[in-house]
Amino acid sequence: MSDTIAVLGGTGALGRGLALRLARSGHAVVLGSRDPSRADEAAAELRQTLATAGIESRVDGTSNDEAAAAAEVVLLATPWDESGASIAALAPGLAGRLVVSCINPLGFDARGPHGLQVTEGSAAEQVAILLPASTVTAAFHHLSAPSLANLDNDLSGEDVLVCGDDPAARARVIALAAAVTGRPGVDVGPLRQARVLEPFTAVLIAVNKRYKTRAGVLLTHVDVGRGPA
Ligand SMILES: NC(=O)c1ccc[n+]([C@@H]2O[C@H](COP(=O)([O-])OP(=O)(O)OC[C@H]3O[C@@H](n4cnc5c(N)ncnc54)[C@H](OP(=O)(O)O)[C@@H]3O)[C@@H](O)[C@H]2O)c1
Repeated sequence: MSDTIAVLGGTGALGRGLALRLARSGHAVVLGSRDPSRADEAAAELRQTLATAGIESRVDGTSNDEAAAAAEVVLLATPWDESGASIAALAPGLAGRLVVSCINPLGFDARGPHGLQVTEGSAAEQVAILLPASTVTAAFHHLSAPSLANLDNDLSGEDVLVCGDDPAARARVIALAAAVTGRPGVDVGPLRQARVLEPFTAVLIAVNKRYKTRAGVLLTHVDVGRGPA
C-alpha cells in the first residue's frame, strides 16, 4: 500500500502537478488549501483528468490542517513567505510529519528572475526553524508545473535533487521523486544545500525564456538506480 501524501497549497500549479503524478503512481493524495472548497474543486479536476486517462485514483481536497492530519508525508507547495506566518500557522498540524519544502524564494525584475536573500539561509531552513517538531526536507524545486500537468510528458530524464538533515527522510523523498518522474531523486545532502537548489530555479526560468523551452536538471555520472554508497 502506497503512502498517503498531503500537498499543502495543492490548488496551485505545482501542487496540482505533483498531486497528479503521485496519484497516477497509486498514492492516495490529499490536497490542502486555505479554502477547503477550492481544494475540493482541484481534487475533482485531477480525478477527472486521471479517469479520462483510464487511471483509478484517490485524490481528495480539504483544509491545509486536515490534509496534514491525513498524511505522514506533506509537500509544501505554497509561495515563499518572508514573515513565515503562513508556515508557522501550520506548525501544530505538521508536528511529527515528514515535510518536503518545494518553495523557491524568487524575485523578478527588469533583468529577469533572481534568488531572494533569505535570513535563515534558504526557505527550507526557514521552514525547519518554524516547524521544530517536523522532519524537514526539500525537493522538486526544478520541475516545471506545466510539464507535470501533461501526463504525456516523460520526466524520467530529469533529476529531482533532494536535501535534508535526516538520511532516512531523504531516502523516503528520493523514492517519492520516482513516483513523480519515474526516476529516483538524487541525495544531495543536508538541508543547507537548499541555499543552492532554490535560487538555481532562477537560472532555469531565464533559460526557458531565452530558449522558449522548459529546462530541467540532469546530473551526469550519477547512478540514481544504485543510490548513494
Ligand atoms: N510553478 C512551478 O513550476 C514551480 C516549480 C517548482 C517549485 N515551485 C515552488 O512551489 C511553490 C508553489 O508554486 P505555485 O506556482 O504552485 O504557486 P501559487 O500557485 O502561487 O501558490 C500555490 C498555492 O499556495 C496557496 N497560497 C498562496 N498564498 C498563500 C499564503 N500566504 N499562505 C498559504 N497558502 C498560500 C494558494 O492556495 P489556496 O489559496 O487554495 O490556499 C495557491 O494556490 C512556490 O514556492 C514555488 O516557488 C513552483
